[in-house]
Amino acid sequence: MKTYRIAVVGATGMVGRTFLKVLEEYQLPASEYFLFASARSAGKTLDFMGKKYTVEELREDSFDRGIDIALFSAGGSTSEKFAPIAASKGCIVIDNSSCWRMDPQVPLVVPEVNPEDIAWNKGIIANPNCSTIQAMVALKPLLDRYGIKRVVYSTYQAVSGAGQAGWADLENGIKGEAPAKFPYPIFNNCLPHIDVFTESGYTKEELKMIQETRKILHTPDMRVTATTVRVPVFNSHSESINVEFEKPFDMKELRQLLASAPGVVLQDDPDKLLYPMAINATGHDEVFIGRLRRDDSVESGINMWVVADNIRKGAAANAVQIARKLIEQDNK
Ligand code: A2P
Repeated sequence: MKTYRIAVVGATGMVGRTFLKVLEEYQLPASEYFLFASARSAGKTLDFMGKKYTVEELREDSFDRGIDIALFSAGGSTSEKFAPIAASKGCIVIDNSSCWRMDPQVPLVVPEVNPEDIAWNKGIIANPNCSTIQAMVALKPLLDRYGIKRVVYSTYQAVSGAGQAGWADLENGIKGEAPAKFPYPIFNNCLPHIDVFTESGYTKEELKMIQETRKILHTPDMRVTATTVRVPVFNSHSESINVEFEKPFDMKELRQLLASAPGVVLQDDPDKLLYPMAINATGHDEVFIGRLRRDDSVESGINMWVVADNIRKGAAANAVQIARKLIEQDNK
């Protein structure tokens, strides 16, 4: 098998450090790794793959070294500038920012859902929004079997989704300190506000969920709506998802479909108080689904509760899984 030169951009960040952890676990066929961050971190060392790696400043000439794959999580403006530079040097960028996701030239990929889209990349592959990824893993098997008319998302999102600064706001808030990242205290509170507000009244996070769902599932006209909420949880996003189907369904069959779907763990036994929870999802790459109930207010529909580690499956693990698929497809 071919070996690959792999870079991590934003290696010192919340997602970047998880990239390193997931790369250690997944053991891709890499010949060499390169770690990049801003000038602030240049020269810092990070423990990775049993060695000490020196972080380099990301610069325009950083990719002049035959780097094959670069995992980016260093913010939208870094991706906007550097992803095309990397791609022009023959590197394939897997980008965790929202910058390239809706570009028609850029595939938006969840490996369990639309791995076929990896093949038409032109040098940049986008990693979807964290809340969207876990929803896709849950919806895809249901879409294929029953068709979907409408989806209503309500999210309960952890502070780690806002990076180290979001995490610090909750930690410091517990000690009574004022927030620095969020506009209001997140401790003992829920903020119905993730990312910026748009003219429509929806936040950008809500629009991301709506638009990315349609792109990933190849359902441009699907009716989707969302309310996204930041809650005082350190890690792992929870989502209530209401789905209305085109066709009738049998609950037993639907449960089996989900139980056998790739990347899904069904945790649904109310008698035993078994349902997905953020504290249990953290550290895992699967999407946990439970609280399955028929929605009697429509002809054919369900409610479900979907939980995943937003930093792993919602970001780093999904990106590394894209890289793994890319390598598989490259070696076919
Ligand atoms: P640094 O640590 O040097 O600031 P988080 O969202 O968790 O704060 O992580 C952001 C990541 O993106 C960090 O690794 C950060 O590096 C990196 N980053 C931010 N700005 C740049 C930039 N202009 N060039 C390269 N990396 C950047």
